[in-house]
Amino acid sequence: MLIVLHGNPNLLPMKLIYFNGGPEEKAMLHKALPDVTVEVVEDQLNSETIQLARDAQIISAYVFAPIDTKALAQMPELEMIATRSAGHDHIDLATCRQRGIVVSNVPNYGERTVAEHTFALILALSRRMVPSLQRTEKMNFDRAGLTGFDLSGKTLGVIGMGNIGKNVARIGHCFEMRILAYDQVHDDDFATAHGVTYVTAVGELLERSDIITLHLPYTKATHHTINRDNVTKVKRGALLINTARGGLVDTQALLWGLNEGLISGAGLDVLEEEKDAFDRIEFMSRKSPSYEELATLLRNHLLVARDDVLITPHNAFNSTEAVQRIFDTTVLNIQAYLASNPINEVTTTAARNT
Ligand code: NAI
Repeated sequence: MLIVLHGNPNLLPMKLIYFNGGPEEKAMLHKALPDVTVEVVEDQLNSETIQLARDAQIISAYVFAPIDTKALAQMPELEMIATRSAGHDHIDLATCRQRGIVVSNVPNYGERTVAEHTFALILALSRRMVPSLQRTEKMNFDRAGLTGFDLSGKTLGVIGMGNIGKNVARIGHCFEMRILAYDQVHDDDFATAHGVTYVTAVGELLERSDIITLHLPYTKATHHTINRDNVTKVKRGALLINTARGGLVDTQALLWGLNEGLISGAGLDVLEEEKDAFDRIEFMSRKSPSYEELATLLRNHLLVARDDVLITPHNAFNSTEAVQRIFDTTVLNIQAYLASNPINEVTTTAARNT
């Protein structure tokens, strides 16, 4: 049997800590990585569970775990991060590069999955699904105030026409919507085949769209793509959908747009600084949260309390099929790293924190 000694000074097998896992994954990992010491941790990577990874060479976690400078300092033996996500803005890539830590992601597992979730949010808002269900649960079958609107004939503005954006456009085209797109790269063949018109400025897309949906990665350049300056351009009554990253939208601008009635509803799978909303205990135990961190937490609470905002818990990726694809690619990523031939390596220039 081949024992993988890769870089380990104690000549022991490499250790993988696999966060957010269960017995099924454990069995599959043992089979797929027989030469690695695998420990599966049910909880996510956080300030407590990170202790389990202090002597690990490889970790695998979802996107909810901030793998920042502080976290990396607590894992001195780390050689590889197999993130179970497409996005990688939660990882301090600059430090990884300095330390020679390989970061591999799962680039294509859920373009249809996330696009379907995007439409779940759109349809829930357009057909007043939540108030309808709340009413019928109480045996109230009154339709007053539940009038929705047709998607057919409306304009869908897709910001970020990559893998997910294109699948959103495909679905929108099937609903007989007009599709506008904003992206730094134009795919003219795709546009012709799916009735997509590219615009050259976000502002134009905001002015012309009945539903605006974000599918950009989160980088320095895309931070607050929707902001206090351009939210004024939103067509009155439009819906805003964000299944990409919270930081693409300035929450203060979104609240302003909702209060002004410019934005009639929002469907959000992601929130700005969502880790603080998800893990309030960790937030409260932080020594001195900044004014901005406190303000964003408060604004997220205001969003949650609104009837015109639907929020799902960063769950767009979470279908049985997509989770299986994530697992399979993660195993391939780790196997490739162990064979000294890493695949799906994340570039170190794209992330916001580089
Ligand atoms: P992708 O890389 O295929 O597409 C991104 C598109 O954005 C590309 O077409 C690119 O040209 C464009 N772009 C990037 N920077 C730009 C800029 N500054 N200006 C204009 N266009 C720019 O990515 P994909 O697979 O479509 O995913 C998009 C994002 O969705 C991911 O980065 C991730 O943050 C998020 N995501 C969210 C999930 C969830 O569960 N909520 C699951 C998977 C991804």
